[in-house]
Amino acid sequence: MSNIEQTLSIIKPDAVERNLVEEIKNIFIKKELNIKESKKIQITKDEAAEFYKVHQSKPFYNDLCSYLSSGPIVVMILEGEDAIITNRKLMGATNPKEAEDNTIRKLYGISIDKNSVHGSDSIINAKKEIEFFFKN
Ligand code: CMP
Repeated sequence: MSNIEQTLSIIKPDAVERNLVEEIKNIFIKKELNIKESKKIQITKDEAAEFYKVHQSKPFYNDLCSYLSSGPIVVMILEGEDAIITNRKLMGATNPKEAEDNTIRKLYGISIDKNSVHGSDSIINAKKEIEFFFKN
């Protein structure tokens, strides 16, 4: 049975800065994740803090929020079969050093912070994250 989902993807400042947007988008398109919406924006540190609220107790929270707001990002709604898990498999492990070959983070990630992409990790978070960027 088909299970078409939507998920939120972010191309982070390190990848936008290195002109990797089209390469990363092509990885999604080739795996039949359709890009329903896409916009290049820069968010404030307060907005990043709101977006990453689930991590507020983590020691890396402040740096994470500074980083996501440090330069332009590309936010996208991806839609396709099992989009949430499909996207997470394409991204690879959070730490690029641990990511499998040919995943986005293995190919392009620089460090655990500068790991090039973010993707929603559950149906609930996908809905929240899509609303955060696209339904204001
Ligand atoms: P992301 O998928 O965007 O979700 C939260 C981010 O926190 C994660 O990617 C990493 O870039 C960043 N991060 C920094 N340090 C850590 C850590 N020790 N464990 C998990 N995520 C981390």
